Amino acid sequence: MGEIDRIAEVLHKHKQDPRYLLAILLDIQESENYISIEAMRAAAEYLGVSESRVFAVVTFYRTLSQKKKGRKIIRVCMGTACHLRGSTAVLHELEKKLGIKSGGVTEDGEYTLETVNCVGACALAPVVTSGDITFGRMEPSKVAELLAKGAFA
Ligand code: FES
Repeated sequence: MGEIDRIAEVLHKHKQDPRYLLAILLDIQESENYISIEAMRAAAEYLGVSESRVFAVVTFYRTLSQKKKGRKIIRVCMGTACHLRGSTAVLHELEKKLGIKSGGVTEDGEYTLETVNCVGACALAPVVTSGDITFGRMEPSKVAELLAKGAFA
């Protein structure tokens, strides 16, 4: 299912009432991890409100992102403990397998790859997180298998 279809599905879960604008935008954010221009236009049209009103809401709420992100976000910890235990090699393997650099989004919109500082799990270093999941003692050799299993959230 493409982005437009997923957005249409989100829209139709809500009544065509401008009071649901924020709820719709939060649902789109959850589904797509960002709010595209197309999504804003679709929400405006569905609710019969101006695009500028939708844009104003998106820019006001920090949880709503206009920056394109993948539906799954993989974060590689680059804090001191993780760095010392080889997180750079894990990051490079993820970049290679996903075909993107840190900060990028895969062509299909599935993954965003980011680096973060200490996530508070230094005993498990090097650490990669995705959604609520923490992958400890990561090694470059585990990357392909985790991607193939769809282990990232
Ligand atoms: S440095 Fe990576 S979890 Fe602390």
